[in-house]
Amino acid sequence: MYKYTIGTDPPQALFNAGLLCYHTVMGKSAADALTGALDRLPRVRLGCYPTPLHRLSGLEAALGYGGIFIKRDDLSGLGPGGNKLRSLEFLLGEAVEQKADRIIVSGPGQSNLCTLTAAACARLSLPCTLIHNCAESEPCTGNLLLNRIMGAESIFLGDISAGERRSFEEKLRGELTERGLKPYVIRNGGTSGMGALGYAETIAELCGQCSAQGFDIGTIFVAGGNGGMAAGIIYGNAALGRPFRICVISVEDERETLKEHIVQTIAGAELITELPFPGDFEDRCDIVDDYRGEGWSVNTPECEAAVRSFPGREGIFIEHVYSGKVVAGMEDYIRRRKTEGGVCYLHSGGFGSLFGQFAIPPSRNLQGR
Ligand SMILES: Cc1ncc(COP(=O)(O)O)c(C=O)c1O
Repeated sequence: MYKYTIGTDPPQALFNAGLLCYHTVMGKSAADALTGALDRLPRVRLGCYPTPLHRLSGLEAALGYGGIFIKRDDLSGLGPGGNKLRSLEFLLGEAVEQKADRIIVSGPGQSNLCTLTAAACARLSLPCTLIHNCAESEPCTGNLLLNRIMGAESIFLGDISAGERRSFEEKLRGELTERGLKPYVIRNGGTSGMGALGYAETIAELCGQCSAQGFDIGTIFVAGGNGGMAAGIIYGNAALGRPFRICVISVEDERETLKEHIVQTIAGAELITELPFPGDFEDRCDIVDDYRGEGWSVNTPECEAAVRSFPGREGIFIEHVYSGKVVAGMEDYIRRRKTEGGVCYLHSGGFGSLFGQFAIPPSRNLQGR
């Protein structure tokens, strides 16, 4: 585990402190090269960074383990916050650079990406169309309600597959282009080399905070859906000398499939930055599929227990599709003492969708406190 030695006052010099920290480990050039590559990319500023980092003392007490932290990307500062806002800074930066006049994004009714994109487009005064593979009659709650409040243009395709939804997305893009418009499509849940780069600098940000706050973190737990966020984190971690072990908890696919998505996404990021991934992909990186249950959005008993107990201990909400499974995995790792030193959960948000995840309200009998 890497010990942080540089202290500074937050928030002014956090990012620099993070980089300085790494300079002491692996020389200035790689850190500078990554910052330089990111600085050259088109970008719109959407979030409030650095997102907070703090201790989870309730969980520490419950698990009898000192040094459990949370990085609050759920508080990234726009819409319901969370996952993909970092990616959207680069994706929408590219869209603005291409002079796009409409953003198209698709997902299920409770898609966090769709709601964050609608919020980002509202901020940027960019027209946006959300395409959902669900019926309009689906209860207007959670993210669907937030979309409605924002006045987002939404197309409901009914109960079709994600593949059919993507075909419709391309058809719409073609039609708009034929009419002389310049649509920009956010494909594949925002997972692309460009989208992943939004997460690459999170490692420097986290290092800076560890230095400033005197926290010693060895392992970071992140969610793996399409793998975009994990790809950015792994790429940033490797580029900066692997200060952390990254534990990716799959919420959807088997290990090999998720690994393939991550590797491909990193390859996309390398092409953009022209900075090759240094060293072995598996070095200080675990991809774990033990907590995904039957796959995406299918609940597991451990996830259910975490969704109930975590807010009861910490006052921070998690949900069933992403964060519940990651927290369940992290707790299991800690209970089995499969971690060394400080552990950090990267909370990727999803708060909006929580309200759409209860067909019937939970029982009053709180579990796991
Ligand atoms: C709240 C939340 N966390 C994590 C993820 C996983 O991100 P990725 O698909 O990049 O693996 C998503 C994906 O949409 C998400 O909405």
